[in-house]
Amino acid sequence: MSDDKKDSNSKASPSGGGGGITGKALDWKLLGRVMHYVKPYNKTFVVAAFLTVFLAAVALVQPILIQKTLDDYILPGNYPGLVYMSIAMIVVLIIQTAAQYYQTFMTNALGQSVIRDLRIDIFNHITSLRLKYFDRTPIGMLITRTVSDLETIADIFSEGLISIIGDLLLVVAIIAYMLFVDWKLALITLIPMPFLIAATYIFKEAIKSSFQEVRTQVAQLNTFLQEHISGISIIQYFAREDQEYRKFVNVNTKYRDANIRSNWYYSIFFPVVEIFSALALGLLVWYGAKRILTDQELVAISANKRGVTPGVILAFITLLNLLFRPIRQLADKFNTLQMGMVGADRIFKVLDTDEVVANTGHLHPENMDGEIEFKDVWFAYNDENWVLKDISFHVKPGETLALVGATGAGKSSTINILNRFYEISKGIAKIDGVDIRDYDINFLRSKIATVIQDVFLFSDTIANNISLNNPAITRERVIEAAKEVGAHEFIERLPGGYDYNVMERGATLSSGQAQLISFIRALVYDPKILVLDEATSSVDTETEILIQNAIYKLMEGRTAIVIAHRLSTIQNADRIIVLDHGEIKETGTHQELLRIEGGYYRKLYDLQFNSAGIARD
Ligand SMILES: Nc1ncnc2c1ncn2[C@@H]1O[C@H](COP(=O)(O)OP(=O)(O)OP(=O)(O)O)[C@@H](O)[C@H]1O
Ligand SMILES: [Mg+2]
Repeated sequence: MSDDKKDSNSKASPSGGGGGITGKALDWKLLGRVMHYVKPYNKTFVVAAFLTVFLAAVALVQPILIQKTLDDYILPGNYPGLVYMSIAMIVVLIIQTAAQYYQTFMTNALGQSVIRDLRIDIFNHITSLRLKYFDRTPIGMLITRTVSDLETIADIFSEGLISIIGDLLLVVAIIAYMLFVDWKLALITLIPMPFLIAATYIFKEAIKSSFQEVRTQVAQLNTFLQEHISGISIIQYFAREDQEYRKFVNVNTKYRDANIRSNWYYSIFFPVVEIFSALALGLLVWYGAKRILTDQELVAISANKRGVTPGVILAFITLLNLLFRPIRQLADKFNTLQMGMVGADRIFKVLDTDEVVANTGHLHPENMDGEIEFKDVWFAYNDENWVLKDISFHVKPGETLALVGATGAGKSSTINILNRFYEISKGIAKIDGVDIRDYDINFLRSKIATVIQDVFLFSDTIANNISLNNPAITRERVIEAAKEVGAHEFIERLPGGYDYNVMERGATLSSGQAQLISFIRALVYDPKILVLDEATSSVDTETEILIQNAIYKLMEGRTAIVIAHRLSTIQNADRIIVLDHGEIKETGTHQELLRIEGGYYRKLYDLQFNSAGIARD
């Protein structure tokens, strides 16, 4: 087992979520939920628990053997018997070592298995949560939950619960044995114990708050680093390196100070334990020696009484060492347990979040025409801050509807509710005359391909980014779709072609290329309805043409709702809806809307396109 000091550092290192350590060391309900995850590994748990009890018992055998060896073999000069005793001691040692090995291995394996299962559950749960949950939950927090908070639960098994039980058993067994051998000697030797327990308690409380501080500072450091590395280009563009450097020094120093503070308690506590242990030893030797002298006379009188012998003293010295080690570690282990409980509490809070996407509908018809109707739709992300107000429109199968409007008008929100990423507050949205809530949600989403404003690419190959690892989508289909979109050539030119590995967020592709990939992604699923949130970022003319052609291709034979920024897309739409502050201001074709003198569309058009030097058709 690792020594106490190392334990303390390993616990200080996981990045904290910032939250305080306030939980009780043992919350039975919480522990019960954790134990639920132990069920599949019941055998391991039982064996580990048995080994723990066994080890506590075996630990006592060694001092007893020492005592017997000295009193019955060495002092009387029984040398042949001494050989047997030595062999017995070696055998006990081997058994003890083997049991220790299995116990350590099994408790660790148990902890890791439990958190593996928990991590799967938490990942599954997180991916099923509504987008709304992520609007107010920092991603860093969720990562902390699934990584470092979970680690603390593994520690419940490897360093916490089972070993605390083992240690307590050992302490009780040692004290009981000492009292049994000679209660007076035992009581005098154990005089420093209450003080030691008090010191341990004080230390436990002090170290608890310092751990909390360390975890808070780690979280700050992590957040700072994560943000600054993600935003490195902004820092460099604006030459903020020096200022950020100073801020970092500050955060880093705070982290160091928190660690030093927590280590300071250890550097006080360990010498204190040493003092008490030396005191106990002193008392033992002083009183023990006195007793040996007086007991010699007693032994002479009554043959069946042995009193305190040199063997007893030697055994007590060994027992004292055995006794002080677990007591010294108990403070640490209780903290480990407590941190595990806090971790468990946080994890179960995430698991208990019931903001999952409600899949109440069951319809999944063979065919879909793709007719869309919004009827008096109201929508708010929060409370009654209406983002969409009384929106009604109707798109016939195969038609294209363009949404235009200033930034924040509610265009993206309109398509977010069609997918049921967010739920409509009032009113109804229908596809093929059926309320979208009546469709099976996975079916609904498979029929609506959504190309969002910010393209997200995973750090995976181009092919996998297109198929999203769906085995139903073959490589041939991917290539076919890429050809349709007109992106095949550029993909082929990449090193490795379709197996080219895209870095996270598509950093190694241009934004135009990333958009094309997201178009192919939509096309391979062959959806009935296309929802396209055109990216506003401008691209070079060549890519622009590619993208325009790709958009035509995507819209062909599909019902489309397009949030259009491109003049070409808008002009070709069957109908245009002008949104302003969540309300429909105007509806019509491009030509119709332009004719409205002083109209929103006309103004928008003049602002957006005329200033860019594009002539009105
Ligand atoms: N996840 C969200 N939580 C709360 N409010 C949001 C959320 N997303 C958008 N909003 C708010 O809803 C309103 C409409 O936003 P929306 O994204 O629909 O605008 P948009 O028309 O797509 O604008 P843009 O052209 O900039 O993309 C804005 O006022 C915005 O602040
Ligand atoms: Mg938008």
